[in-house]
Amino acid sequence: MAPAPAKGAKPGARYTTRAGADDAEFTPLGALQYLLGIPGPSGFGSRSTAGQLAAKWDGSGKVAIVTGSSGGLGAETARALAARGCHVVLAARDVPKASRVAAAIRAAHPAASVEPMELDLSSLASVRAFASAFARKRRALHLLVANAGTVFAPLSMSKDGYESAFATNHLGHYLLVELLKPLLIESARAAGAPSRVVVLSSEGHRHPPTPEDGGPIRFERLNDPKGYSKLAAYAQSKLCNLLFCRELQRRADAAGEPLLCLAVHPGVVGTDADRHVPLPGLLKRLLKLLVRPYIKGVPQGAATTVYAATAPIGAPGISGGEYLADCNPHTASTLSHDAELGRTLWEFSERAVARHA
Ligand SMILES: NC(=O)c1ccc[n+]([C@@H]2O[C@H](COP(=O)([O-])OP(=O)(O)OC[C@H]3O[C@@H](n4cnc5c(N)ncnc54)[C@H](OP(=O)(O)O)[C@@H]3O)[C@@H](O)[C@H]2O)c1
Repeated sequence: MAPAPAKGAKPGARYTTRAGADDAEFTPLGALQYLLGIPGPSGFGSRSTAGQLAAKWDGSGKVAIVTGSSGGLGAETARALAARGCHVVLAARDVPKASRVAAAIRAAHPAASVEPMELDLSSLASVRAFASAFARKRRALHLLVANAGTVFAPLSMSKDGYESAFATNHLGHYLLVELLKPLLIESARAAGAPSRVVVLSSEGHRHPPTPEDGGPIRFERLNDPKGYSKLAAYAQSKLCNLLFCRELQRRADAAGEPLLCLAVHPGVVGTDADRHVPLPGLLKRLLKLLVRPYIKGVPQGAATTVYAATAPIGAPGISGGEYLADCNPHTASTLSHDAELGRTLWEFSERAVARHA
């Protein structure tokens, strides 16, 4: 069941000038717990690694897709799952890059079964081609990790004419899940356990565009350069990830479909995701040095995704529709619980992909 908003909170109630910012509460104890990696209710914490999270999981007989597995968090997530016997499809727009990741995984884990496949999430035709190729090759799909993401990229349009952060981070994944849903459901029924969709969101979801700029989701002005900010566009796409996750769970629950959808904030992780951060290289390096104790390594960054993908149902935060960080349940913004907004986003996405069928 999708969780209700925090007690007493009206969805969207704090949606005033900074659309649904609803900042995470800072406490000195919380900061200390984060820095020292003190485990939370799940028994894991900010310093746990993807390998530790997967250690007790049996992935044999399971099939997973990890999008954006040509590097960063996706590659590490794929490695951790494949090391436990799961067949992992490395879905990437750059197949040679994904093939190098596959070779590195096989070198570290000779029994690993990994398979690069082409998927460009900024092209709805590519998503459709990937889904058909996958369904032709594979009879099962137990886990889909919607990890790929473009972060703070300058304004550009996708191949279908949608603002690229929205198109890549949300719309491509929306279509991918819709196309593969029958296989996820069929595989869940055969396995006697729900299939999972894990969506990479971010704490950035708390700062979408303001109402003055058409926010929190710029349905009417998606491509409008006026009022566009790449930070807000990223935040919008990450809010979409959370709204999508909860709406998918609501729809699955209503239809009795055996699906579990979870959203994840991986932490602030030292990947290439900061390539578009608008700071000179030297300043960026200096800043990174200053905040170093706060930044996670990639194995720690992929841990929460692996927790969402592998922890048993009923473990903290693993019942469907939750938001997780540091391998534990985490409070998301009030706006992300807004079921009406989730439904509007779903219907908007439905129409957007239908235009390019
Ligand atoms: N790192 C962080 O601190 C952080 C914090 C919060 C949330 N996240 C989220 O975590 C996820 C993974 O980020 P990361 O840190 O691993 O970033 P990253 O190192 O930049 O990796 C991003 C991955 O997404 C792929 N990608 C980008 N556009 C694509 C497209 N159109 N089609 C297919 N694949 C595409 C990239 O492929 P190429 O190799 O071809 O570029 C790459 O494999 C993202 O969704 C991000 O929003 C990251």
